[in-house]
Amino acid sequence: MQNDIAAALDAALAEIATAATTADLAALTPRVVGKKAPLGSLKSKLGSVADIEERKRMGQALNDAMTTVEAALATRRTQCEEAELAVRLASETLDLTETLGSSKRGRLHLVTQATQRLEDVFIGLGFQVAEGPEVESDFYNFEALNMPKSHPARSMWDTLFVESAEEGSVVLRTHTSPVQIRVMQDWPPPIYAIMPGRVFRRDTPDATHMPVFHQIEGLVIDRNITFRDLAGTIEAFTKAFFGAEFTSRLRPSYFPFTEPSAEFDIRRANGSWIELGGCGMVHPNVLRAGGLDPEEWSGFAFGFGIDRMAKERHGVEDIREMYTNDLRFLRQFS
Ligand code: FA5
Repeated sequence: MQNDIAAALDAALAEIATAATTADLAALTPRVVGKKAPLGSLKSKLGSVADIEERKRMGQALNDAMTTVEAALATRRTQCEEAELAVRLASETLDLTETLGSSKRGRLHLVTQATQRLEDVFIGLGFQVAEGPEVESDFYNFEALNMPKSHPARSMWDTLFVESAEEGSVVLRTHTSPVQIRVMQDWPPPIYAIMPGRVFRRDTPDATHMPVFHQIEGLVIDRNITFRDLAGTIEAFTKAFFGAEFTSRLRPSYFPFTEPSAEFDIRRANGSWIELGGCGMVHPNVLRAGGLDPEEWSGFAFGFGIDRMAKERHGVEDIREMYTNDLRFLRQFS
């Protein structure tokens, strides 16, 4: 029986060693420690050993063998568990270095890029940047710009009104021109300022119009400023922003806050012209509303559509494309 125990132990240890996974081990465990396992059946034969001392020795030998098998099972289980954990960790590892190194964390919107570039160009020409509120009073949006109540020119801007105690006294600004007045009131002249921002009109969206769009206003107030200064500044800006092959022209027009007034067009590479904004010499009434003496100070102002400029600069066919938030479109302009 001694030999049978030794043989059963060797066979059990050999089988345990073949287990590659915890599942293998679970499957073979009953075959090495169960009642029907060779060591188990030897135990049931113990009763047939006649000699008591011999039975005790065999009983002890069987217990030792079982303990050895249990220990071998535990050791192998730990080894299998460690191996399986290592495999799982390897498969679940996130290569963060790769992700961080190669990903782009978003980009600035085309209109933001255009605004920043416009600011750079004008800062290079000696201008400073100012901002004003998007919700404006009737005074700044119209009245101070030489458009008293019921002035017909107010209908040039389809206005969105904000509910207020005095009906019609608060508007979503229809242009950036009200910031001219705020700057004149706040900054001592000479003034060389640009004022970018969002504006709102009751316009139906189409290829060149949006109800919410962006303008950049320019204001120069100094002594002896003439129309030549205005034309020269616009031409210098056109070449700096669009490229040396572009040129500008001014067409006579009408704005209540400038006199004389003009529309500003640029010539595209294919020879056609597109209107970008309005401009003119600041009207004396506007200088007065801003707290300046028209006998001492003169100046010019302009206001361009930033969305339209971005559209032209990048050859975008339809201005609405900029606002559908389609990443396939936006990703082209990084
Ligand atoms: C004005 O808003 C004047 N405040 C500009 C001005 C400033 C004149 C200073 C004189 C002195 P106008 O309404 O034309 O002007 O708009 C100026 C530009 O904004 C247009 O030429 C166009 O480029 C852009 N624009 C106008 N409406 C829209 C719209 N719905 N969607 C996108 N761009 C628009």
